[in-house]
Amino acid sequence: MGAAATVEAVNTLGVQYLGRKGVITGFLKNIASLPKEERPAAGKKANRVKGALEQAIEKARKRIETAMADSVDRLDVSLPGSPSLAGALHPVTQISQQICSIFNSLGFDIAEGPEVETDYYNFEALNFPKDHPARDMQDTFFVSEDVVLRTHTSPMQIRIMEKTQPPVRVVVPGKVFRCDSDLTHTPMFHQVEGLLVDRGISFGDLKGILTAFVHQMFDDQTSLRFRPSFFPFTEPSAEVDILCVMCRGKGCRVCSHTGWIEILGSGMVHPALYENVGYDPDLYSGFAFGMGVERVAMLKFGIDDIRKFFENDIRFLNQF
Ligand code: PHE
Repeated sequence: MGAAATVEAVNTLGVQYLGRKGVITGFLKNIASLPKEERPAAGKKANRVKGALEQAIEKARKRIETAMADSVDRLDVSLPGSPSLAGALHPVTQISQQICSIFNSLGFDIAEGPEVETDYYNFEALNFPKDHPARDMQDTFFVSEDVVLRTHTSPMQIRIMEKTQPPVRVVVPGKVFRCDSDLTHTPMFHQVEGLLVDRGISFGDLKGILTAFVHQMFDDQTSLRFRPSFFPFTEPSAEVDILCVMCRGKGCRVCSHTGWIEILGSGMVHPALYENVGYDPDLYSGFAFGMGVERVAMLKFGIDDIRKFFENDIRFLNQF
């Protein structure tokens, strides 16, 4: 009885000895068949055993019940706790938020838009000619003839201008998709688009805002270089390089020994876009820019392979 570990085990023992067919019950029944003079002594003995057994059963039951109640209620505060695993923001999300909050502090709103986009917003309204190479299957994931996975965040320029009148000051973070994969390209990556349209906006404003951004994102020793470029939706267009954050312009592997690293595309909004959204191009002017978030994150964190961001290796992610 003292060894029984559960109430069920105690009950089973009780039935075995005291039940209708139990050992003690059987013994008590047999007393009637004993010679008359032996019956009183045998009866006394049997009842003593029965009483002792009943007591033992009761005691065992109490012991088990108390032990169970104790194990539930009692908290051993000296035991080491089990640490709860806290999640953290992905490094790409961290950098995207940091980029947006810098522009937010410069007066820009933050907006988001659809990742599955029509040909109209992704290309047509952005002044891409029908036979532009970016419309090729090689670069673009087509959902159907007129629907694509957006190849950049620029379609949001059109969506925002359609819905609001100037002044417009907005940044748009989001995923974009291109049929491309190597050390510096993944089929999905992130961009932050920027758009500012108002009266009397010049290329000087573009340079001023982007310079303020780079100085806050990196540091104010990081100089910028504006290189003439081409985009169908900006005119003039410029690609922006920053002084290599690794070698400070001396030339290294990261900057292909040029001392400069490209971080974004930009330009003055093309008048054709104003026509498409119903803005008066004689009244308004503005600039737009688009940057790759992974590119900025790689420079900030010193990472040389973009694919690391998307392998979900916890040992990599825990470093940020
Ligand atoms: N959409 C362009 C790209 O993905 C970047 C860009 C945005 C260029 C805005 C100019 C103005 O390469």
